[in-house]
Amino acid sequence: MRVIAHRGASGLAPENTLAAFRLALELGAKAVEFDVHQAADKELVVIHDEDLRRTAGRSEHIRDLSWQELCRFDVGSWFDPRFSGERVPRLDEVLDLVGGKAEVHLELKHGSRRYPGVEARLVGLLRRRRALKNCVLSSFEHKALSAVRELEPKARLGYLLGETRLEAAWAEMKELRAESLNLSRQQVDAGRVAAAHRRRLKVLVYTVDDAAEARRLKKLGVDGIFSDLPRLLEDAS
Ligand code: G3P
Ligand code: MG
Repeated sequence: MRVIAHRGASGLAPENTLAAFRLALELGAKAVEFDVHQAADKELVVIHDEDLRRTAGRSEHIRDLSWQELCRFDVGSWFDPRFSGERVPRLDEVLDLVGGKAEVHLELKHGSRRYPGVEARLVGLLRRRRALKNCVLSSFEHKALSAVRELEPKARLGYLLGETRLEAAWAEMKELRAESLNLSRQQVDAGRVAAAHRRRLKVLVYTVDDAAEARRLKKLGVDGIFSDLPRLLEDAS
């Protein structure tokens, strides 16, 4: 079972920062997940929330700041003063660090409103970097996945079920030619794993930080788990 470092090694370093990705690689992660938003200057940036409240104590939204403005804020100290000075990284920087060393699970976020044209920018960037093969693009926003599929037949897609009913999702995943169904811990069960496998879909589960639970999911046939503590769970996988 694959262990995917969720937001980097985010149990040990501030999520979605270069420090967290560096640590995940040092710990031997073979796959890394992170979240992408679009800044005001259309730069693609790696951060989970659509604003800076939780990670920088600021009220500004990512969509309203250019990357130059955004990168002044410290998104490391909230986690531990040792990480003060960590900045919101650009997608390019994260791919420079991780690309080629670990599989990339890139989750496209949209916040309360979609970012117009973000899918084309994302596909363009991954094409330029020849990173499509090593990257699984996922999103709760299934329209974004459709837009990516229309733009790029070779894109690898992960379908985050979210609030969608599974009965409706099967058809959508087929249409999208998704490679994985990504479920929360609460959503996964043996029947769903078997149904996904019958359709040749992998099942990836978030967020698993407990070794006993990892072993249970492995027994269910789950193909991968997203974990904040990737090293801890490697043995259970
Ligand atoms: O992609 C799996 C997981 O990251 C989805 O939830 O909120 O951690 O981005 P979230
Ligand atoms: Mg995510």
